[in-house]
Amino acid sequence: MSRITVSTLQKMKDAGEKISTITAYDASFARQFDNAGIHAMLIGDSLGMVLQGQSDTLPVTVEDICYHTSCVRNGVDNALVIADLPFMSYATPEQTYANSAKLMQAGANMVKLEGGAWLYDTVRGLVDRSVPVCGHLGLTPQSVNVFGGFKVQGRDSDKAQQMIDHAKGLEQAGIQLLVLECIPTELAKAITDAVSIPTIGIGAGNVTDGQILVMHDALGISFGKIPKFSRNFLAETGNIEKAVELYINDVNTGAFPGPEHSFS
Ligand code: KIV
Repeated sequence: MSRITVSTLQKMKDAGEKISTITAYDASFARQFDNAGIHAMLIGDSLGMVLQGQSDTLPVTVEDICYHTSCVRNGVDNALVIADLPFMSYATPEQTYANSAKLMQAGANMVKLEGGAWLYDTVRGLVDRSVPVCGHLGLTPQSVNVFGGFKVQGRDSDKAQQMIDHAKGLEQAGIQLLVLECIPTELAKAITDAVSIPTIGIGAGNVTDGQILVMHDALGISFGKIPKFSRNFLAETGNIEKAVELYINDVNTGAFPGPEHSFS
């Protein structure tokens, strides 16, 4: 497999090929995921929960993400490497540019940020400065205190329409990838049809252009229970590389996520 870029992912969407992505935080796992053929790896601020044992992602710093991005970079030959901008690290455009420079210099190919209309100018500024951007809508975990918990988003029609508008606005501003987290499958389909960039779902049904899972959930090693939208692929295979190959295969065939992993 050759090096995957944002253009590869766009071509995959255009050809109707599914995109499989996973979080990664170190070189050893990254190497196994890369060998299995994963298309992109995210150094997510989920590391606050699965590595640091925090109850949410808010304590994660830019330095944490930079450190783990440089570790992952050392294990990756092919996959696109995406790094999360953590909570309050992109409150103003200038702050975002400075922090994105750190993530890109640590080895990221793209940065991800959470939110809708308030980010349009920031996204435009990043793209003008040659930083590829991934958006994130739905259950954006950095807003857990505003949502009052980790809850499915976009169930009422006004909020659903607003999310579709934000997806289109972010695309116009220049994002090249969009994560949709914990939203009804029907809304994920409407957003995927409304934009021409690839959508990547987690708890958004099998109608998006690709999927992402937190690696600890996909391998059944998270503390606490595995979320409804995940599946323990390691339990089914007994081998990490084969677990990720099975995940990629089932995303390709549409077998994962099934209705039992999705929301209405
Ligand atoms: O931080 C993270 O791992 C994420 C994914 C769940 C999409 O944002």
